[in-house]
Amino acid sequence: MDMQEKITRIDKLRKKRNAVILAHNYVLPEIQDIADFVGDSLELSIKAQQSDAPIIVFCGVSFMAETAKILSPESMVLHPNPASGCPMADMIDAQKVRSLKKEFPHAVTVCYVNSTAAVKAEVDICCTSANAEKIVSSIPENQEVIFMPDKNLGANVANELQREITLFPGYCPTHDRILPRMLADIKQQYPHAEALVHPECSPEVVELADYALSTGGILRYARQSNKRQFIIGTEEDILHRLRKENPGKEFILLNTALICPNMKKISIDDVLKSLENLQYEVDLSPELIEKARRPIEKMLELS
Ligand code: 13P
Ligand code: SF4
Repeated sequence: MDMQEKITRIDKLRKKRNAVILAHNYVLPEIQDIADFVGDSLELSIKAQQSDAPIIVFCGVSFMAETAKILSPESMVLHPNPASGCPMADMIDAQKVRSLKKEFPHAVTVCYVNSTAAVKAEVDICCTSANAEKIVSSIPENQEVIFMPDKNLGANVANELQREITLFPGYCPTHDRILPRMLADIKQQYPHAEALVHPECSPEVVELADYALSTGGILRYARQSNKRQFIIGTEEDILHRLRKENPGKEFILLNTALICPNMKKISIDDVLKSLENLQYEVDLSPELIEKARRPIEKMLELS
């Protein structure tokens, strides 16, 4: 079967099964192109919550598919390749959260959505890169805050809000390998470009950038800006949408190391098989869904 035949088959099956295909801004361009909706973690969570489709095919990493299941428990949520995980999410587990809560019994636990359902079930409130500042600001100034698992996002929020936050030492291997020197060099090469980076980059990189935004925020900013040239400090396949939506503007990837190998694991063949065989169903116990939903819903109420 050639690519076009596969896509035609996917289209037929999604109609027949009344399925919706959701995709993150980092997945392969050909997957973004067949999706019903492409977005950042917050936008995808809202879509899943609002969806009344009986089947959601989720093209992104595991924690995102889990979040869709938690917010749309009546739907069958399919993750076309369960090997597509997030190394940062795997840096913390429920036991580590319980130990932190013992160590800091009065602290509010804020958890980035890049975490497993089991971890979310232990925390007070979730956040995404799009709303992290807003969520932390909603916590009274006199209350201690523990932020997990991303030390970079947590430190960037702490700097922005001028607030002390206890950080769990997790990080995104893709964004954390970006060094300030790399951004400084490319800014010299393109002195008129605006530098937009993801807040999973280190505070030193964020300091050198013009803005640190979620992937959805980068897309919105680029659309409405009068500037013509941008340095992009996040995963390479966001460039697909940026270029498609802004044909007259130029987007330069900050560094060629900006690849999330896990986001590349979902292929057109995987999506086709997912719809043909209804695989692989995200299976979470009702108790876990119930516990993990609370901190996500708290976040959505504030977003
Ligand atoms: P966004 O929510 O900004 O899309 O980020 C998700 C992510 O995994 C970034 O690495
Ligand atoms: Fe996880 Fe980083 Fe990949 Fe995002 S880019 S899914 S944080 S490994």
